[in-house]
Amino acid sequence: MRQFLSAQDAPSIEELVDRAQRHKRKPLDMEDVGYGKTIINLFFNPSLRTRISTEKAGINLGFEVITYDASGGWNIEFEEGAVMNLDTAEHVREAAGVLSQYCDILCVRSFPSLTDKAGDYADKVMKAFVKYATVPVVSLESATRHPLQSLADCLTISEKSNRPRPKVVLTWAPHPRRLPQAVANSFAEWMIAWGKVDLTICNPEGFDLAPEFTAGATVVHDQATAFRGADFIYAKNWSSYTDYGATADLPGWIIDEAKMTLTNNAYFMHCLPVRRNVVVSDGVIDSPRSLVLDQANNRTWAAQAVLSSMDLG
Ligand code: CP
Repeated sequence: MRQFLSAQDAPSIEELVDRAQRHKRKPLDMEDVGYGKTIINLFFNPSLRTRISTEKAGINLGFEVITYDASGGWNIEFEEGAVMNLDTAEHVREAAGVLSQYCDILCVRSFPSLTDKAGDYADKVMKAFVKYATVPVVSLESATRHPLQSLADCLTISEKSNRPRPKVVLTWAPHPRRLPQAVANSFAEWMIAWGKVDLTICNPEGFDLAPEFTAGATVVHDQATAFRGADFIYAKNWSSYTDYGATADLPGWIIDEAKMTLTNNAYFMHCLPVRRNVVVSDGVIDSPRSLVLDQANNRTWAAQAVLSSMDLG
């Protein structure tokens, strides 16, 4: 792969999941892949899991790994032809070109503005790095997608499912802050492209995800209907796509023990970080059916599968 931004970049999701599984069994089996090579992880936004799991994956493959927190640096300009006499100090043309001098893979995390729908959904930050970098680019989460999280989630579901086509429910959950749609978009995109599950998406009216991500899924607007017979409940908050960036105060959408009794003894999933007793009750996240730590563990193997698949020329 020359880039890893979405499910479309994976030649075969099934093969990537198998590869991640092999790395999990034997983490150091490809420790020569990165010998003499460098990965730069460029973060415009905070991270715990993505940062550490990607660093660990790179180290397991023998890469040198440099992580740069760009949120404390000067502002980068993304507009073509900009007259840069305001608060941006460096154009992405130079930033991407310069970083390409120092590394063999450039990994980037950038959240959406949640105010500029067109700009966010053009994924302009990630696409600019792809355009101007001369090395392969891996998304560590963009304005619209979080593909490494989704690949890890495919791995987790494949490990736990004991049915040919499990019912997987992606449900909106409450949150005090407005959040990106990226994890939810990506989860839907990967589940549908993977083709191994029946996906139901459940959210309040006004919170439907962009249709480009949900074609092929069942969309419902009440949790009782969605949860019935579910094998996996994947909880996530996202702000509105239609009333772009808006949120809603709906505490009744919490995932609790009573709702989980409607399911087929479902596993509980969340990408983390999670607000306890807002998104999910302690009883659900602390139960033996909670997979949140399995998901976090699988982030390393998903990252390793992607990094070891990149075309380094
Ligand atoms: N799930 C996830 O991406 O976590 P971080 O934001 O901590 O990287």
